[in-house]
Amino acid sequence: MDFNQSHSVKLNDGHFMPVLGFGTYASDDVPKSKVGEATKIAIDVGFRHIDAAYFYQNEEEVGKAIREKIADGTVKREDIFYTTKLWTTFFRPELVQQGLERSLKKLQLDYVDLFIIHVPFAMKPGEELLPKDANGQIILETVDICDIWEAMEKCKDAGLTKSIGVSNFNHKLLELILNKQGLKYKPVCNQVECHVYLNQSKLLTFCKSKDIVLVAYSALGSQRICGTWLKENSPILLDDPVLGEIARKYNRTPAQVALRYQLQRGIVVLAKSFKKERIKENFQVFDFQLTPEDMKTIDSLNRDFRYTEPAHFKDHPNYPFHEEY
Ligand SMILES: NC(=O)c1ccc[n+]([C@@H]2O[C@H](COP(=O)([O-])OP(=O)(O)OC[C@H]3O[C@@H](n4cnc5c(N)ncnc54)[C@H](OP(=O)(O)O)[C@@H]3O)[C@@H](O)[C@H]2O)c1
Repeated sequence: MDFNQSHSVKLNDGHFMPVLGFGTYASDDVPKSKVGEATKIAIDVGFRHIDAAYFYQNEEEVGKAIREKIADGTVKREDIFYTTKLWTTFFRPELVQQGLERSLKKLQLDYVDLFIIHVPFAMKPGEELLPKDANGQIILETVDICDIWEAMEKCKDAGLTKSIGVSNFNHKLLELILNKQGLKYKPVCNQVECHVYLNQSKLLTFCKSKDIVLVAYSALGSQRICGTWLKENSPILLDDPVLGEIARKYNRTPAQVALRYQLQRGIVVLAKSFKKERIKENFQVFDFQLTPEDMKTIDSLNRDFRYTEPAHFKDHPNYPFHEEY
C-alpha cells in the first residue's frame, strides 16, 4: 500500500480512503454525548476517516460533531471520509437505499463516502435492531447477496455514497460478488476483525489479489463488553508481553505498535477510544517504523483467535466464520 501525503490509499473505484480510522461503536451504557465529544477530538487531532453504522445508534451525535467541525472551519466535508453500514433488517433489495437514507437523515449529510454491508445475512425487516421470535430467538432470513449488491450499486449511482464495500465477508462470499453476472462495481473493501491474535494473512493475500482493501476492526483487542458477543476468558491484547517489549524499544505504547503493524501490512486500521489522551496517542503512528524482524515477531503472535463470534448466527448459510478465511 502506498501512503500518499495525506496517509490515504487509492480504492479500486478511484476514491481515496485514509489509512487510519476512528471507531465510533460503544455499548448502550455509554452516554451518546460521549461519541460526539470523542469524534470532535478525533477530528481535532487529525483523524479524517470515521467509521460508523446504523446499528451503533449514534449517527445523530457523530453527524452533529462532524457538522460542527465543518462549521468551525477545522475541516471541509470533502476532507472527511465517513463510513456507514447496511444493517441486516434492511437486507432486502427494496430496503437497501432506505437503510442508507435513514443514516443520512440522522447525520444530516448529503452523502457518505463508504456504504458497506455490515454482515452477510438478513434479519426480519422492521424497527427492531435484533428482531426476536416468541422464544427469544433472533429471526434470520436468507436473501441473495448478489441482489443486495445490485441495490448497493444503485446507491452509488444515485450519489448517496461515493464507494461501496462489505464487512465480515470470507473469501467465498467475496467471490460470490466478484463472479456475479453483470457486476458493475467491485467492493472497495472488506472490513473484518483483524489484530495481532487474528492476523488474517490468508484473507489479506486474497483481498490484495483482487484490489480490495482490508480494513481492520478490533485492532486493539475489541471493547471487551460483557454480556455481548465477546468470547469468555479472552486474552487482553494490549497486555501482551511481546507487544509491550517491542513498544518499549521504540518508546511507544502497545496500542501504537498494534496499529502501526497493520499499516505496514497494507491494512487500513480502525481505533476506538473515547479518551482524549488515547485518541491523540492512537494518531501518533506515522512517525516511526517497525523493522522487518519486529514485524515477523508480531506475525508470530497470531493464534487465529476471534474476539467476536456471534453464536446466534452460526446456522445461517452465510455465516462467514466457518471458513478458514
Ligand atoms: N464491521 C463490524 O462488524 C465491526 C465490529 C466491531 C468494530 N467495528 C468498528 O471498529 C471500531 C474499533 O473496534 P472496537 O470498537 O472493537 O475497539 P478497538 O479499536 O479494538 O479498541 C478497544 C478498546 O481499547 C481501548 N483503547 C483505545 N486506545 C487505547 C490506547 N491507546 N491504550 C489503551 N487502551 C486503548 C478503548 O477504550 P477507551 O474508549 O476506554 O479508551 C477501546 O474500548 C469500532 O468502534 C467500530 O467502528 C466494526
